[in-house]
Amino acid sequence: MPKPRADATSPKTRHSAGNAWNRVILHTCERMVEIPDHAVHLAVVAPPFTNDKDRRTLDKEHYIAFLQRVFVELDRVTHPLGTLVTINTDLRDHARYNRGQREYDGLLWHKHSDICRIAAVAGFACFHTKIWAKSLKTGVYRLTYSHVQLFRRPNLAQRLAARPPVPGFAPDVWLLPGGSHRRLRGGGFFRDAIHPLIAARCIAQFTRPGDLVLAPFAGSGTIPAVAHIMDRTWMAYETDKSLLPLIRQSVYGPVRPPVFATSALDIALLAHHSSHARS
Ligand SMILES: C[S@@+](CC[C@H](N)C(=O)[O-])C[C@H]1O[C@@H](n2cnc3c(N)ncnc32)[C@H](O)[C@@H]1O
Repeated sequence: MPKPRADATSPKTRHSAGNAWNRVILHTCERMVEIPDHAVHLAVVAPPFTNDKDRRTLDKEHYIAFLQRVFVELDRVTHPLGTLVTINTDLRDHARYNRGQREYDGLLWHKHSDICRIAAVAGFACFHTKIWAKSLKTGVYRLTYSHVQLFRRPNLAQRLAARPPVPGFAPDVWLLPGGSHRRLRGGGFFRDAIHPLIAARCIAQFTRPGDLVLAPFAGSGTIPAVAHIMDRTWMAYETDKSLLPLIRQSVYGPVRPPVFATSALDIALLAHHSSHARS
């Protein structure tokens, strides 16, 4: 496992109980040594497609073992009343993405089921699943929808499910088109982003202003950006240093990626709604 290497990137670091929050840390989230036990109120987890160095192939056994390490660490850092949200796109299965592991071959890898099992072993119970529909068209390579799975400690799952929903949260299918691509400065696109309204709805539903939101896989910085807009503290981890300019742009602008402009009113409404105390 790579040795942790901290890199503070934020001009607006906030201190809480001696810890510096609002930072992107450039090392693997398998060991989030910068975060004390039980500090996180909400973790929004959008794992990479592969953890393989070539970024093209996938060894599922290694990948599952990797996610297991991440979830054990998420168990450590998450508050007993905290919430874990995973966002995952199941994959059309193919030997190329599978390093020849034939036992996994099939039409589809139901990765969300494995994530549910991994989370359960780490001590989290799935209490709800939403579908993020990115488009109503059919994708050839990837599915055009993702699973948004909500987890909590088993004894708290029911209590949370009974909470009144914030605007947009109640439906089981969230049709949010156009949210997964971000333009990179040197040309090209980052294609694996989540729609900001997924983060906004979860932050409004499960946290209060000042709570700590964690993005173990920062990517383009959607989760820190929405946490920042909604006045939450945040921490993010990312192994790809080249994404830092995009993350900074998402969090601090001055001009955020276009999807933030189209979501701005909804995010503001959710921020206002959640500024009232929620237990
Ligand atoms: C699906 S993307 C996250 C997208 C993000 N939620 C967004 O909206 O932009 C996954 C990210 O995880 C990063 N990553 C891969 N392995 C990692 C690790 N071990 N620790 C932290 N980040 C990692 C990848 O570089 C990639 O940017």
